[in-house]
Amino acid sequence: MPLFDNHGRPINYLRLAVTDRCNLRCFYCMPAEGISYVPKKELLSYEEMERLVRILAEMGISKIRITGGEPFVRRNLVDFLNRLHKVPGIEEVHITTNGVLTTPYVDELKAMGIASVNLSLDTFDRQRFKEITRRDEFERVLDCFHALLAHNIPTKINAVVMEGKNTQDIIPLTELTQQYPVSVRFIEEMPFNGEGSHYPVLVWTHQKILEVLKQHYPAIEKIADAPASTSYNYQIPGHQGTVGIIAAFSRTFCGTCNRIRLTAQGTLKTCLYDQGVLDIKNIVRAGATDTEIRKVFETTFQNRAKDGFEAEQRRRSQSVSESMSTIGG
Ligand code: 5AD
Ligand code: SF4
Repeated sequence: MPLFDNHGRPINYLRLAVTDRCNLRCFYCMPAEGISYVPKKELLSYEEMERLVRILAEMGISKIRITGGEPFVRRNLVDFLNRLHKVPGIEEVHITTNGVLTTPYVDELKAMGIASVNLSLDTFDRQRFKEITRRDEFERVLDCFHALLAHNIPTKINAVVMEGKNTQDIIPLTELTQQYPVSVRFIEEMPFNGEGSHYPVLVWTHQKILEVLKQHYPAIEKIADAPASTSYNYQIPGHQGTVGIIAAFSRTFCGTCNRIRLTAQGTLKTCLYDQGVLDIKNIVRAGATDTEIRKVFETTFQNRAKDGFEAEQRRRSQSVSESMSTIGG
């Protein structure tokens, strides 16, 4: 049965962060020295996550995206993914990964029927990859990209556009759509890097990214966006793949937002920009029944901010400074 929030928006999509740990140190996500990880016992166990997913699926969640940190740094992830696929009501399981550890599991991802894989990759230049991620792992990510395509797994590339870092990559990344049936998405940089905003104003807005694309590809065409999509999608005539722009900072898509988030530490977020609106882990560990858990979820979904600006306003401390590795994107 469909689940609606207090603004009449259907909620059917859960983004589940399985760990806050990561093997990269992306500029837009973490400081160079990393962030302090929470102790393992503070993370939801796979059993706790599966239970929450089962309850949420009974309430109307049908799509899940696994995020992190980097999901594949958590042990036995593939077993967990297989179990998620068996939860009644869960129709699609997607995953977002940096690709460093993923290639050995691509066969299994295909076999379980993973709906899609989003690869976080901000450049196809090895040196710039190293500068942005602070690790020299480009080759392994490239292997992952090719393995995904070889297995016909629907693949997207997510590139955060950063002034002074990778704006020269916009066109080369878009060129991949000529040869490969891949969706390349450019994301506005958000201040979720563990330190607060990098800039007084955002230079690389969705409008500016689109201008660069239009300049280089005057024939670029707008194509239909999937329902509740966060990306504006385009295609260059003759290209196999598509290109998308995600206004993650400008927040133009909140009106159709169908998603909730569960952080690795067991906090529910009903908006990327809120500070966490429900500590579900404590409720679970205090011995709540399924019915009680369902009740608190229902109450929380009836108190959703209408958009990312209101969610930000409601934060106790106004400034956004957490790392995306704890939120999961
Ligand atoms: N701004 C925008 N996107 C970000 N991501 C991580 N940190 C940020 C940020 N500060 C993206 C990564 C990844 C997804 C989970 O979130 O590119 O694809
Ligand atoms: Fe890791 Fe993703 Fe954060 Fe990069 S953006 S440090 S890959 S969690």
